[in-house]
Amino acid sequence: MINKYHSVKPVFNNKLPQLFIETYGCQMNVNDSEVVLSILQDAGYALCEKIEEADLILVNTCSIRDNAEQRIWGRLDHFKVLKKKKKSGLTVGILGCMAERLKDELLNHAGVDLVAGPDSYRDLPRLLAQIRGGDKQINTMLSQEETYADISPVRLDKNGVSAFISIMRGCNNMCTYCVVPYVRGGERSRDPESILREAAELFENGYREVTLLGQNVDSYHWVEESNPTKTTNFAQLLERVALISPQLRVRFSTSHPKDMGDSVIHTMAMYENICKHIHLPVQSGSDNMLAKMNRKYTRKEYLERVKRIHEIIPGCSISTDIIAGFCGETEEDHLQTLSIMKEVGYYTAFMFQYSERPNTKAARHYPDDVPSEVKTRRLNEIIALQNELSLISNQADLGKEFEVLVEGPSKKSDKELCGRNQQNKMCVFPAGEHKIGDFVKIRVTSCSSATLKGIEIK
Ligand code: 5AD
Ligand code: SF4
Repeated sequence: MINKYHSVKPVFNNKLPQLFIETYGCQMNVNDSEVVLSILQDAGYALCEKIEEADLILVNTCSIRDNAEQRIWGRLDHFKVLKKKKKSGLTVGILGCMAERLKDELLNHAGVDLVAGPDSYRDLPRLLAQIRGGDKQINTMLSQEETYADISPVRLDKNGVSAFISIMRGCNNMCTYCVVPYVRGGERSRDPESILREAAELFENGYREVTLLGQNVDSYHWVEESNPTKTTNFAQLLERVALISPQLRVRFSTSHPKDMGDSVIHTMAMYENICKHIHLPVQSGSDNMLAKMNRKYTRKEYLERVKRIHEIIPGCSISTDIIAGFCGETEEDHLQTLSIMKEVGYYTAFMFQYSERPNTKAARHYPDDVPSEVKTRRLNEIIALQNELSLISNQADLGKEFEVLVEGPSKKSDKELCGRNQQNKMCVFPAGEHKIGDFVKIRVTSCSSATLKGIEIK
């Protein structure tokens, strides 16, 4: 049961031991840091905003590509220096995917006192108490059950408008390049009742948008313990969250092309407050690469999904993830990726060079044989094309009307506000009397590849 007196925002109190949290990687990690803060606030810590004031620094890490890990190693050397400076004592803990992957290798670093994997956050108060006894501590046990369902995250977002809700953890897909199933364990879904309570609590606290998070939300599947015939799938969960209030926008991420069925698309079309945006990672446009990546769909099947989305939800935007230079990728494979990007017309994309991750199937079986300069060139071509596609997508919105949820002042001027439309595009418009959390209707008057600019319409 969610505690009535639970604060959704951090409580600052400099009489308590001070905790500083640094988060790297995906949205799931941001939400995990919020779970960790909730656990440690209950254990008597208070969040601080300056790292120099911290008695405890926790770093929530990412292992998805090698450069993400290299950044953390750099930070550890810095923490070693901070530890020397802080006479009253400083504890440094490494959490998350890199903690899970590297275990003792991290613990042995002079800047580190604690290593805790993604399923061991409930154990943090005990581990920290043990450290006060003088020993370094580690817990990297993965779990088949842990979903932190009963813990209300303490929100770390700045604006109080938009929040993440994890609906499941782990991944069973075993894409051959990906380290996630090894560091976050097997897939498990969270009790829908706890998800609904959390979303309702956020709404009552002024939040106007929730994003349901999972590595593959389409495989969400909850079976009632007391009555195994009673199950909830993702489309049903989405509908129940949408019914909390028409004033609460609902988003979700990430969809898997092999699992995204028509029922989810129909549910999106049925509810005005489910945002018309789907993040549908394609990874590559070449059937050879998709098979080698173990994505379990073909280019044709992916395009068929896209067609269904447009048929059922007119005006739905689609974004994607793309990997350049996977093992054995030929020039022809690369051209196939460029061509599928044009065919779909993504409004935005996250684009990466392939980075071999130790112990994945790709690392064990396929040589990482695309030369680094070729990977870079291909990635640059993908990025250049995406910039063109983003501009084309935004130009197609000129003159259209959208509802925007205000997130804050625009980057360039206090006289302008910014926020996203349902399609997840950033919109900027004159502030007028509006404030953060308002829904404002605008008409698009100009655009760049990154932003829509508009004016309010009454
Ligand atoms: N190298 C490069 N990109 C990767 N991703 C996952 N693993 C790797 C890797 N080894 C990308 C995929 C995924 C996104 C979250 O990160 O595109 O969808
Ligand atoms: Fe990794 Fe594939 Fe799971 Fe995504 S679906 S986390 S890419 S294994």
